[in-house]
Amino acid sequence: MICQTPVARAVRSRTVRALADWTELFDPQVAMVVWERPVDPLATRFAGEVLAHAKLEHLLEIEVADLDRAELVPADALAADPVGGQSFLADVRTLSHAFAELVGASRLGVRLLRLDAPMCPRFHTDFVGVRLLTTYCGPGTEWLDDADVDRSRLGHRSGGEPDERSGLLRPGAVVRQLPEGAVGLLKGEAWPGNAAHGVVHRSPAVRGHKRIVFSLDVLDQEGGFEGFDATGEGCAVPQAGFQRVDVPRLAMPRQRRGGRA
Ligand SMILES: [Fe+2]
Repeated sequence: MICQTPVARAVRSRTVRALADWTELFDPQVAMVVWERPVDPLATRFAGEVLAHAKLEHLLEIEVADLDRAELVPADALAADPVGGQSFLADVRTLSHAFAELVGASRLGVRLLRLDAPMCPRFHTDFVGVRLLTTYCGPGTEWLDDADVDRSRLGHRSGGEPDERSGLLRPGAVVRQLPEGAVGLLKGEAWPGNAAHGVVHRSPAVRGHKRIVFSLDVLDQEGGFEGFDATGEGCAVPQAGFQRVDVPRLAMPRQRRGGRA
């Protein structure tokens, strides 16, 4: 989390219906792209009937060139439902390729998790350029429109009060939520020009549900290796002087280590 001052610039989400429209993310007025899409029922079945019933903490660092050979889904889970598993695998592979192409990533951090409790229950922003999040099973990530949030109450400035009482939520604020299966592309603090404008979000209360969450981070956009905090914990303070690399339509700093999911 970061302590931030209130900003006047609006931070908006944009809902799209086609994968090709992920490029809306490059609009400076857009902080979050939501891709509402149908998910193959076989993939949903696999998430709800196989992944949700096993301990699942699958963390990978993958060269994009190796995506089609990578074990994006644990082999033992695939064996439990080969048909559903292949559908699920095809879906996460498609998301991975599309995300890598969008930002010119050469290396990705992948998380496939079953969550029985909120991973990051307090509203916060991430120290990443952009993060892909989707929940195949269970309640999706919650987030706030910029007009609904007082950023000066993020982090320790909440005074330890719950989000609903800290003053973080402006009067009339609406806590929004990604639908199950929808894909969110969330700009973080390290997106060029987006410092203090990262999407404010949190993990939802699970209330007995088991969430199956898939996320992607950019670890590198060309040669080199910045590392990946496999725990998903820790929000290190961004350092000045990100090494910037040029990619089509976007010059994005390398992924910071860590950052909350
Ligand atoms: Fe986060």
